[in-house]
Amino acid sequence: MTECCNSFCYLFLRLIRSINPRNPFVTKPQSIVVLGSTGSIGTSCLDVIRSHPERMRLLGASAFRSGKALLEQAEEFQPEWISLVDEAAAEATSFDSLSEKTQLFAGPGHVERLVQQPEVDTVVSAIVGAAGLEPTLAAVEAGKRVAIANKETLVVAGSIVTERAAACGATILPVDSEHSAIFQALQAGRKPDLRRIILTASGGPFRGWTRDRMRDVTPEMALQHPTWDMGPKITIDSATMMNKALEIIEARWLFGITADQISVVIHPQSFIHSFVEYRDGSVISQMSHPDMRLPIQYALTFPERLPCPCPDTDWSISAPLELHPPDMEAFPALQLGFEVAARGGTSGAVLNACNEVAVDRFLRSDIRFDQITQISHDILHHHTFEAQPTLEQLYSADNWAREEAARWNS
Ligand SMILES: NC(=O)c1ccc[n+]([C@@H]2O[C@H](COP(=O)([O-])OP(=O)(O)OC[C@H]3O[C@@H](n4cnc5c(N)ncnc54)[C@H](OP(=O)(O)O)[C@@H]3O)[C@@H](O)[C@H]2O)c1
Repeated sequence: MTECCNSFCYLFLRLIRSINPRNPFVTKPQSIVVLGSTGSIGTSCLDVIRSHPERMRLLGASAFRSGKALLEQAEEFQPEWISLVDEAAAEATSFDSLSEKTQLFAGPGHVERLVQQPEVDTVVSAIVGAAGLEPTLAAVEAGKRVAIANKETLVVAGSIVTERAAACGATILPVDSEHSAIFQALQAGRKPDLRRIILTASGGPFRGWTRDRMRDVTPEMALQHPTWDMGPKITIDSATMMNKALEIIEARWLFGITADQISVVIHPQSFIHSFVEYRDGSVISQMSHPDMRLPIQYALTFPERLPCPCPDTDWSISAPLELHPPDMEAFPALQLGFEVAARGGTSGAVLNACNEVAVDRFLRSDIRFDQITQISHDILHHHTFEAQPTLEQLYSADNWAREEAARWNS
């Protein structure tokens, strides 16, 4: 009888926990903060929250300068707070229609404190670039569930972020579709039985092109992604395949594996989101329509699965699924990704900073498309490498690399 009672209590607690993992006794909706709510991932995340009002509520949201879009989101979701980082943009936006329920924080530095408040269950890190590092680290240090889209955080400071997550009891869940796929496929086996992971890549708009042919690519051409609709920086990263390089480094830290346990395969249809290969030769993958709302939702509901507001797979039509090896010569960024994943230390901060500056220069037509990767290559290979940097050393490597990349000339 006691045993029966115990197992009933256990099942009951598991059920309640799956509804609200941070608070086992109260079935209130999960309180979510979305950093970068006005971006591509941010708006997809709000769509997921909109679809599950009984399970999720927006507690706080932040943007950089999109004041009007942030205000509209606040009017719809009525969060407790919003934060606009750019003060000039905050002054230029009229927040008169903001509800009394929502507090506005203008200027830098607020979100780092706000994400640590006890009522926050989950922080979605969807800022673009290294600017995401500080608020993401703050959420990690407060022991939150962190749904991480901002791969640059792990590229720059993967060792520190993962160490602090373990020490502070934070859970980091991947949002990137490839890493979400790997995370799901890893549940099919045990870590010691893992042989390698295989990241899929669409190949971007210049798949099959030579390096020479890519010299004349314009920003307009590079901003056209064949399968994904994303923010401008990641779209350019996908065209150079630097995005895959950053994902190699992200995977190294997220899954605690070595660079030689990671491979890349070109899959133009973006339907298979990555593979895991076990030592018996079994290969497990996760597949779905290319829509970021699915991996975002999974990071919010794990281990549970809910109906998702994205299109289902149409099994009535023929659909070829191609797999090709990547062209490492045409896309030298991939080699840099493997190199940095193997080396660690300050190299991720330097690669990421160079790439952010180079993408910005390319979008301003200040450098050619093929020079984006060239800048990162040149600067990465003459920086003063530190194997076990502190956070301060990572910031200073980032600053140094940004200055070098801004003045780089072929
Ligand atoms: N888009 C995708 O499908 C996708 C897929 C996988 C991973 N990711 C990763 O997710 C992250 C976001 O990508 P995205 O495509 O959503 O980018 P995005 O559309 O450019 O949106 C970026 C968001 O970050 C905010 N932001 C920009 N600079 C900021 C700063 N200095 N401080 C604070 N907030 C800032 C922006 O605010 P404003 O609107 O005010 O500028 C916006 O809300 C990136 O790390 C990307 O690699 C994206």
